[in-house]
Amino acid sequence: MPVLSGASGVEIASGLAAILDMEYVALESRRFPDGEAYVRIPPESIESVRSESVVLVSNTFPDSGIMQTLFLLGAVRDVRKGDLSSLKGEWEGETHDVGPGIFLAIPYYGYARQDKRFGFGESVSAKLVADLLSELCDGIVILDLHAPEVLRDMGADIEFVSSMPEIADSLRRDVSPDFILSPDKGAISRATEVAELIGCDFSYLEKKRIDAHTIEHTPKDLDVSGKVVAIVDDMISTGGTICRASDALRRQGAVEVHAACTHGLFTGGALSRLANHVDGVYTTDSLPNPRASVSAAPALARGLGAMMSRAPDNG
Ligand code: R5P
Repeated sequence: MPVLSGASGVEIASGLAAILDMEYVALESRRFPDGEAYVRIPPESIESVRSESVVLVSNTFPDSGIMQTLFLLGAVRDVRKGDLSSLKGEWEGETHDVGPGIFLAIPYYGYARQDKRFGFGESVSAKLVADLLSELCDGIVILDLHAPEVLRDMGADIEFVSSMPEIADSLRRDVSPDFILSPDKGAISRATEVAELIGCDFSYLEKKRIDAHTIEHTPKDLDVSGKVVAIVDDMISTGGTICRASDALRRQGAVEVHAACTHGLFTGGALSRLANHVDGVYTTDSLPNPRASVSAAPALARGLGAMMSRAPDNG
């Protein structure tokens, strides 16, 4: 089963191909001068894309990533169907429909946090993006989705996977924490998993978001005096959540505070802000960033394995 990617997914897709002992196939993706996306399956790769089931590694972030992912899936679908409609050039190879077997692995799913309507008239953008993608593929693997509930029961075959085992390995090796903190209730299950894998204490804070840049934590006694603490979350964006949690930990005597997450967005100077509040930052490479030290590929490989075991004929 070849592992495909456009220009933005090369590293994770190559890592995934190596783990699964599969071929990596680079697809062409670039931008027209006006910014619109152009994708192409190179002629020398058409046969690989048609030969058996394929997995495309592609992020739906930023917005241009959504278009690129849709176009890449569309190109793969058309090549597998042997769709020659609107073709100006010649194609002399096989054109019979090779059937289903297109899987999408998404390291970072954009719009994950737009998972509810806070008022009538809003778009549940997280679900709309999945509706579009699922029209073009047979199954989707998503890494550490903020709130998987939004995509459950939508009829598509979706496998939710987590990089917490790899994050736990990284923290154990590089930080050796005594205590894991979830900075809000939403990250409790991820942070608990890390604490259990490392074998250390765990607690969580309750967070209220005032606006995109301001959050408040409910004061809580934490048994962290003299301890090395790692805060674990699914993503870091402005860094506000981590900085406020770190302040609370330091006030209560933590000697070192580190931050770990799957998705390092680091918007608006977040890394400089974090440098004043934590001793280290650890993320996966789901999004390219200067703190990406953990590979997202093993988790995606687990997800594909689970999906394939449900669809043995597609392997
Ligand atoms: C939200 O609940 C997420 O799990 C993160 O805690 C949040 O997105 C982090 O955002 P920021 O870094 O801007 O505080």
